[in-house]
Amino acid sequence: MIGVFDSGFGGLTVHRALIEALPERDFVYLGDNRNAPYGTRPPIEVLNLTCAAIERLFAEGCTLVVIACNTASVVALRWIQQQWLPVRRREDGIARNVIGIAVPTIEAATSRASDASGPIAVFATQRTVDSGVYPLEIHKRQPGRAVVQQACPELAGAIESGAAPERLRALVHCYVEQMMDRAGSPPESVILACTHYPLVAAYFAEALPAGVRMIHQPETVAQALRSYLARHPEYDGSRGGARRFLSTGFVAEAILLIERFWGGKVPFEAI
Ligand code: DGL
Repeated sequence: MIGVFDSGFGGLTVHRALIEALPERDFVYLGDNRNAPYGTRPPIEVLNLTCAAIERLFAEGCTLVVIACNTASVVALRWIQQQWLPVRRREDGIARNVIGIAVPTIEAATSRASDASGPIAVFATQRTVDSGVYPLEIHKRQPGRAVVQQACPELAGAIESGAAPERLRALVHCYVEQMMDRAGSPPESVILACTHYPLVAAYFAEALPAGVRMIHQPETVAQALRSYLARHPEYDGSRGGARRFLSTGFVAEAILLIERFWGGKVPFEAI
């Protein structure tokens, strides 16, 4: 069974693409709504909360967990893979792995020649920007490539709280303008490095100069997971097409928000 974890409901944008790409697999989604948002939390809290969520997904029987949250991926994944998982594997004797969504996205963004004109622009939460992981991983693949990061501290919260379309549009235009002021030249590629931003991708497209390549994280991650499982069948052999949706803070008021992320009703269980 494959676990998919996010700080809240935003990861449903990624989860939906994973299910579409791998319909035969068993999936369980966990949203840590009680503690969302992660994007403004100190790194140590993001790390502890992420480990607790992974423990829970392992307890549900998951052998592979996808951290479908950029903030948790960039803050916690490296430590989890290098320090935490090896101990868990030794203690349990079970082959399990945890993967994130930042690296597949960066691989897609750097798939073009590094002499491409214009920088790669990264829009993300404050915590993701502060981690510096996106520029670091881009530069490992394309040294010297110009990267401009733009924190959008209010955007995920505004989407989550159901802000009016005009408010969301104004926020996106404002962040794009700030990025353009610092970038110098129009970006060649844009990464929307937050689970919530696919919902306002159209506002980004209209605010950005024409012809800019947008990396669609949900589809990119889904393709990467499919190829990962082909290379690593040991981490999931499920074929039942089972689905479960768990939330640490599910409340009836969230139903509209969930429908916005998912495009329909989702049978969440409160845990
Ligand atoms: N899921 C988070 C991300 O992709 C956004 C929401 C939050 O701040 O928790 O960065």
